[in-house]
Amino acid sequence: MPQLAGQVVIITGASSGIGEATARRLARAGAKVVISARRQARLDALARELDPTGAAVLAVAGDVTSDADRRRLVDATLAKFGRIDGLVNNAGYGTRGPVEIVPLEAIRRNFETNVFSLIALTQLVLPTMRTQGSGCVVNIGSVAGRIARPLSSIYDSTKHALEAITDGLRGELEPFGVRVTLIRPGYIVTEFVNVADAASDDILAHAGPYEPFLAGFRVGYKKLQRVAGAPDDIARCVEAALASDNPAPRYNAPFHAKVFLLLKWLLPARLFARITRLRK
Ligand SMILES: NC(=O)c1ccc[n+]([C@@H]2O[C@H](COP(=O)([O-])OP(=O)(O)OC[C@H]3O[C@@H](n4cnc5c(N)ncnc54)[C@H](OP(=O)(O)O)[C@@H]3O)[C@@H](O)[C@H]2O)c1
Repeated sequence: MPQLAGQVVIITGASSGIGEATARRLARAGAKVVISARRQARLDALARELDPTGAAVLAVAGDVTSDADRRRLVDATLAKFGRIDGLVNNAGYGTRGPVEIVPLEAIRRNFETNVFSLIALTQLVLPTMRTQGSGCVVNIGSVAGRIARPLSSIYDSTKHALEAITDGLRGELEPFGVRVTLIRPGYIVTEFVNVADAASDDILAHAGPYEPFLAGFRVGYKKLQRVAGAPDDIARCVEAALASDNPAPRYNAPFHAKVFLLLKWLLPARLFARITRLRK
């Protein structure tokens, strides 16, 4: 069912950034969107904006790490629309800090949101897609799923995991007519950096011997702002994947993401590591 108009698409993390832009873009293309995230007021406002009649939009507030909330999301979608054509696994955040000092509990939390919850929600949606003989799972990965950086490798490793999960799923679901793709955003201006700061401030406040390197890390992020993309750059890739009979295995966007990934592929590992190494 590649034509977007009429498709029923669940989008997680739709209360801001890439998920919100995706909901806007898909709704404009005539899809029926099911938007989810924890901040109910934001979801309700977006739902009213997308379709004041409520006929083509459903807001289901919930925490993607909660089994009960995930089940409620899928059940409410099927109760209202009777099918699921797309699942955009977008909810996620980043934890920063040197591996030596990040508490294991914080690492587990990051994997719980970015990896295990994505797998669990996909497991709930797949029986419907398989029975339909059609559907598309779009995982929002990252350039960080190919390029791990010092002080960021907890988050980066969650996105590395999505590379493998996406490839495995693609092969497993091909016989059933279900398509699977991964989108690798580069740096996009959203709430992501603020959320990562909030999740990591306590950890970085006790960085000890790593303290002198934190300023260099922040400067690196500031430099990236010069090439930053907009959430709609990624929403456009999601739209292309859902509208295609045969989506690309991966979409890299915006342009700087393609450049970084090309450099990673071209350069010897030691040389590439110099680009990302810690600086005071
Ligand atoms: N921005 C970038 O540069 C960038 C680059 C590469 C990849 N990405 C990926 O893109 C995706 C979207 O991020 P963004 O940049 O749009 O950041 P964002 O503006 O912070 O949006 C993140 C979304 O995820 C939701 N979320 C987070 N934890 C959740 C939970 N436990 N349960 C339900 N929803 C949850 C948030 O909603 P609530 O807080 O309301 O729950 C929010 O809607 C993430 O997977 C991120 O890793 C971003």
